[in-house]
Amino acid sequence: MSKETPYTDQELAAFGLDRARIPRHVAIIMDGNGRWAQKRGLPRIEGHRRGVTSVRCIVEEASRLGVGQLTLYCFSSENWKRPPRELTLLMHLLKQYLIEERREIQRQGLRFRVIGTLSALDPMIQTEMQKTIDVSANNTGMTLCLAVNYGARQEIAEAVRKIGQEIAAGTLTPDQITESTIADRLMTGGMPDPDLVIRTASEFRVSNFLLWQISYSELWVTDRFWPEFREEDFRLAMREFAKRDRRFGGLSGAEKSA
Ligand code: IPE
Ligand code: IPE
Ligand code: MG
Repeated sequence: MSKETPYTDQELAAFGLDRARIPRHVAIIMDGNGRWAQKRGLPRIEGHRRGVTSVRCIVEEASRLGVGQLTLYCFSSENWKRPPRELTLLMHLLKQYLIEERREIQRQGLRFRVIGTLSALDPMIQTEMQKTIDVSANNTGMTLCLAVNYGARQEIAEAVRKIGQEIAAGTLTPDQITESTIADRLMTGGMPDPDLVIRTASEFRVSNFLLWQISYSELWVTDRFWPEFREEDFRLAMREFAKRDRRFGGLSGAEKSA
């Protein structure tokens, strides 16, 4: 049996998990690469390099657990403020990952997607992304979505611009604008909202990630740095999520029927 086989109900139960309470969409703010490296007296880039191993482990684990979509915050639109050397190395790592991971994405039957302002990225990176999007388009497994040069405020501004253009063209009127008019024009159009947002490295902030989409997401912050985040940490997040009482502004199940 290949190692990426989906877990059975019994295996899930052994992890303290129930298939009915596995989130449909998990989004992760992968943070703490630099601090992980600094703590070991290593250059920051070693943390990023090691972080790629965490990505591989967590993609496979999420898929085996039956998560429908995993969105990974890889590079924010504000991360261009980093030193040029770090930026060069980060972009190099991203390109390597895209090239090396294509076979693995196919082997696991994942659907690959990307969100972010891609036109600002090296054309070679854009080409590698598109290749993986194309070859994986008909896969039926988990959707793996990378957020690269992504910023939620920029995404919302872009959606508003599109709406403005449609109004100017006469194909939309202001009173026709609903929540879905906006949601459909975001980069995540057609994707379910995240049920769970995980942030590593103890930061209790959102850092311009999926602002519209996380209105009712459950948040879980861990003190683990991303390079040390592994399968058991992800399963712990799943167990914590399963305990949450999601009310969406209403009442919980027991109160509703009381
Ligand atoms: C997250 O790790 C990766 C990116 C933002 C690209 P950091 O590089 O932010 O690591 P810390 O927060 O400095 O430890
Ligand atoms: C958020 O981490 C972005 C990514 C993980 C890609 P940052 O390290 O950039 O966030 P701040 O600067 O601490 O808010
Ligand atoms: Mg950081």
